[in-house]
Amino acid sequence: MESTGIESTGMESTGIESTGIESTGMDSIGVELEQNGIVRKTDEFAIETIHLSKVFGKENQIRAVDNLNLQVRKGEVFGFVGPNGAGKTTTMKMLIGLLEPSEGSGKVAGFDIIREVINIRETTGVLPEPAGFYDNLTARQNLRFYAKLYNIEPDIREKRIVSLLETVGLTRAVDQKTGGFSTGMRKRFGLAQALINEPSVLFLDEPTSGIDPLGAQMMRDLIKDLNRSKGVTVFLSSHSMAEVEEICDRIAIIARGKLLAVGSVEDLRDMIREKEGVNYLLEVQEIPVSAAANAVKNVEGVTALDIRDKTLYVHTEMKLRTEIAKAVKNAGGTVSMFEEEEMNLQKLFLKIIEGA
Ligand SMILES: Nc1ncnc2c1ncn2[C@@H]1O[C@H](COP(=O)(O)OP(=O)(O)OP(=O)(O)O)[C@@H](O)[C@H]1O
Ligand SMILES: [Mg+2]
Repeated sequence: MESTGIESTGMESTGIESTGIESTGMDSIGVELEQNGIVRKTDEFAIETIHLSKVFGKENQIRAVDNLNLQVRKGEVFGFVGPNGAGKTTTMKMLIGLLEPSEGSGKVAGFDIIREVINIRETTGVLPEPAGFYDNLTARQNLRFYAKLYNIEPDIREKRIVSLLETVGLTRAVDQKTGGFSTGMRKRFGLAQALINEPSVLFLDEPTSGIDPLGAQMMRDLIKDLNRSKGVTVFLSSHSMAEVEEICDRIAIIARGKLLAVGSVEDLRDMIREKEGVNYLLEVQEIPVSAAANAVKNVEGVTALDIRDKTLYVHTEMKLRTEIAKAVKNAGGTVSMFEEEEMNLQKLFLKIIEGA
């Protein structure tokens, strides 16, 4: 298989050796290279974790995050998905210094998540779930408060507040108390707050949950735009697979604290293709569909065939598009329709979770 960057459950060990596309980076992960006595930070990744774990409970019986090895490249929009209780929020909290890891380590924007939390706060923005504000203060007052925490100069601060509220579509709510904001307004305001320090890495925990479709689309467009125009690395969790498919370059799937798979949607498709095979549907001209079926069934790797109406359904062990087309052609037929059964992220997610 070509580079998939996939870490499947099968590769239980650490996931470190198994990434393929990231093999070079992994050697240097989290390492501070010492050259000529100067300690240089490796900063290939915006976020990295090594064996990151968090346990809860009196007897440490809850493994909320279990040996997580992740690498998020600079400038990526990275999706973190998994069922309720999978460990997404716990992971984010460790990455932003709100929770200390039980084991393992990590870096965000080149800073250590245990020893350099202050630097992480300065260079990151966070939209938590649920987002909390000073609800008796107005939008402007809230943002002013956060801006002061970052020592942003008053002129810059006031301009930025206005501009951020405009960006998130809350210009008219500038002087409204956030306590009166609707769910959608709170999310958008949370994004404005997360951006007050012009972060290079943005953590968004379920940025669109509870928002109406229009608001959610606006949020996604904002995220894409921030990423494209400002190069902000985005690490987001979501339960909407369509959303993640739309905006994320790569995705990590986590369940019960464990990483099940990492890669682009196409990488994840390859992972499932390898495990479960591929389904094709085709229509042929010049020869009867039964004749095409006879020809195709002899192609090595074809495991099942079915004819419904005039469509031929072919199940194969692997990608066999060229071979199937050739078999039909050799039998005197022409392929007029040839599709691979669509596997969207929703389907892939369910399959990967099921198989775990
Ligand atoms: N402070 C805590 N004390 C004890 N257990 C906790 C604590 N925080 C989280 N957990 C447990 O850790 C596990 C992971 O929780 P987490 O909130 O990280 O999941 P999640 O993936 O964010 O889920 P959701 O999709 O519902 O937001 C759960 O079993 C949860 O009950
Ligand atoms: Mg959560």
